[in-house]
Amino acid sequence: MGLEERTHPQTGNTPERPHAHADWRQMVGIGLVASVLGIAAGILIDWFPLQASTQAKSIDTLWDVLIIASVPVFVMVTVIVLFSVIKFRMRPGEEHLDGPPIHGNTRLEVIWTTIPAVLLVGLCTYAFIVLENVEASEPNPLQVRVVGEQFAWTFYYQQNGKEVAANVLHLPVNRPVKFTLQAKDVLHDFWVPAFRMKKDAVPGINVTYGVTPNRVGAYPIVCAELCGIGHATMRATAVVEQDAQFTAWLGKLGRPAAAAPAAGGGGGGAGADGKTIFASTGCGGCHTLSEAGQDGTVGPNLDEVLKGKDEAFIRQSIVDPSAEIADGYTDQMPPGYGDQLGPEKLDALVKYLSEVTKGG
Ligand code: CUA
Repeated sequence: MGLEERTHPQTGNTPERPHAHADWRQMVGIGLVASVLGIAAGILIDWFPLQASTQAKSIDTLWDVLIIASVPVFVMVTVIVLFSVIKFRMRPGEEHLDGPPIHGNTRLEVIWTTIPAVLLVGLCTYAFIVLENVEASEPNPLQVRVVGEQFAWTFYYQQNGKEVAANVLHLPVNRPVKFTLQAKDVLHDFWVPAFRMKKDAVPGINVTYGVTPNRVGAYPIVCAELCGIGHATMRATAVVEQDAQFTAWLGKLGRPAAAAPAAGGGGGGAGADGKTIFASTGCGGCHTLSEAGQDGTVGPNLDEVLKGKDEAFIRQSIVDPSAEIADGYTDQMPPGYGDQLGPEKLDALVKYLSEVTKGG
């Protein structure tokens, strides 16, 4: 465009584009309504599993506060961009017109610098305080050494001066536990989503963190660091139980005759029989099954609830445990066992359970 087309703004004959004054109040109004809807959606979404540790609540609250603070920022930027594209766009014939020449707007610049600065400093301070609180060390914690390898977790407890291994993590309710994470091969990440806390297990060093489980139940343990082809199957179960049950379980684990499943491995394969799978999957941590010598009480007694049931029912109970809940129990069995076992092991387990619970 030629310079002669630009005139001084004060002379009043600047050829301004007619749409440049589209109502900014309308834009802010749309942004505010969209922000409120966005915050409502963000809060209504059920992001997390049950809270099963004393740390969980403050972490979930932090998340909600971050949603409330960040959704309006995202929504406002999006609304301003879209509104500008639609309302302030160049129409045909306006190619030679221009907006008013502006040399900054001090008030606007102070506002858009101050608000993000206050927001960032405030949120960082708050997040730091939450981190300090959830990582605070508790007195007299139960020590558990957690070893990750491709693709299994093994848990080591101190029992009468020696270390005993388990494939299922048992924890007494309301007692702080301190995990010491180790890795045999590559990076893994020890995470019980219901406890919220997680950290990487790094080969060659000890990484520690603590939680205080405060809700009896069985919770999935997942590996949260991509560690190879079997990463998605690197799962285990955390059983939180009353102290007496935990002590009894630990006592049994210490006895050599208990034939605790071999530590590590996790692969297995063809030929595994149902009873071995029942033991290595940790079913007995929650369920009683007399044939397997298990007496867990977190979940229904399998001698009773599976008595006379057909294989289809047993299969559904494992693959989709929420489908039918035994009287007096809540829906808390982790749903991933079907995938974790794979079809072959699942078949063997179903067959075994069907055989040993056949009425009579
Ligand atoms: Cu171990 Cu992913």
